[in-house]
Amino acid sequence: MAGPEPTTPALRCCALTRRFGDTLAVDRVDLTVPRGSLTALLGPSGCGKTTVLRMVAGLLDPDEGRIEIDGTLVTGPTVALPPERRNVGMVFQDYALFPHLTVARNVGYGLRHLSRGERAERVASALRLVGMDHLGARLPTALSGGQQQRVALARALAPEPDLILLDEPFSNLDAALRAAVREEVRAILRAADQTAVFVTHDQEEALSLADLVAVMDQGRVHQIADPQTLYTQPATRFVAEFVGEADVLPGTRAGRYLVDTPIGRLPTDRALRAGEVTVVVRPESLDLRRADDGTGVVTGLSYFGHDQLVTIEVAGGHVLRSRRGPGLDLVRGDRVRLEVVGPVVAFDRVAATTLADEVDGVPA
Ligand SMILES: Nc1ncnc2c1ncn2[C@@H]1O[C@H](COP(=O)(O)OP(=O)(O)OP(=O)(O)O)[C@@H](O)[C@H]1O
Ligand SMILES: [Mg+2]
Repeated sequence: MAGPEPTTPALRCCALTRRFGDTLAVDRVDLTVPRGSLTALLGPSGCGKTTVLRMVAGLLDPDEGRIEIDGTLVTGPTVALPPERRNVGMVFQDYALFPHLTVARNVGYGLRHLSRGERAERVASALRLVGMDHLGARLPTALSGGQQQRVALARALAPEPDLILLDEPFSNLDAALRAAVREEVRAILRAADQTAVFVTHDQEEALSLADLVAVMDQGRVHQIADPQTLYTQPATRFVAEFVGEADVLPGTRAGRYLVDTPIGRLPTDRALRAGEVTVVVRPESLDLRRADDGTGVVTGLSYFGHDQLVTIEVAGGHVLRSRRGPGLDLVRGDRVRLEVVGPVVAFDRVAATTLADEVDGVPA
């Protein structure tokens, strides 16, 4: 039988839906993951990320929807392939290593169908890939957090799965270790040309690691895009505010690509339809200059060395932030003139709009 087409995605979820009692945990989620890519599911606590992963792994059945892995229907109206037949590896937040088995036996756990020789070879190569080949005889309890993380990854990689799912894989590590381990994990996945989906509520982690980020809230996917598109062209106000720093201002349409705001008339990145809009200003796109006739007043300043974040109050009591270089030329109480660099992101402001309406309103 011919294998799947090279363009077949590693994972395709269509209209995936799951309720727990009255909670709509996952609401018509569509998700396509290209082969060889690293995709992040990003969203606040309780938005349904783990529930999506569990359904993909076959640990939980959806109420509705379909899941295809590498072109094979694994979940559908009349199909529910068990987890062990999906060729999916999973890395959990707590690593879930067997404490009584050595590192090597943990990694070999999913390979019991192979001959002893083949198994030893696969274990050795997976441990080499994660840089743990010298620690195969250790017990997990004698490893650091970062090392346990790598063993869990080796265990998931060893059966050469079509897809690896990682649920908050870095959350047990302290901040210093975290940055190092996540770079390492990315390098390992790349070296193995491994398709992976990882869950996080940390936007910096998602933006810096993933090829594609799916932003979720309240069970819905708001947008799936590469990090730059997500940041510069957020599809919904939720995405604009959840991904990166953003301040919002009310605005009134002044033209197809022009909006009047409390800080003046600004060009927009998209055509405006509604009269009333919400404008999103990123701190790095707001320039300040001290000016006695300025319309803003500096109300706060956080100095970080490499840069600083200045808080400004403008007409109507709205607060904006400006991220600027390390030169200290402003103090609290200074009046400043504001200039927004580049077009602003703007959304229709419809009073009754719910997040779900907003997502449904996004053109496919
Ligand atoms: N087994 C369950 N029984 C009842 N409700 C559940 C169950 N599992 C999840 N939920 C609910 O479904 C929603 C989504 O949960 P899920 O664990 O998928 O969120 P999450 O995005 O992974 O959050 P976190 O970032 O906190 O891990 C939540 O409201 C949660 O309380
Ligand atoms: Mg979770």
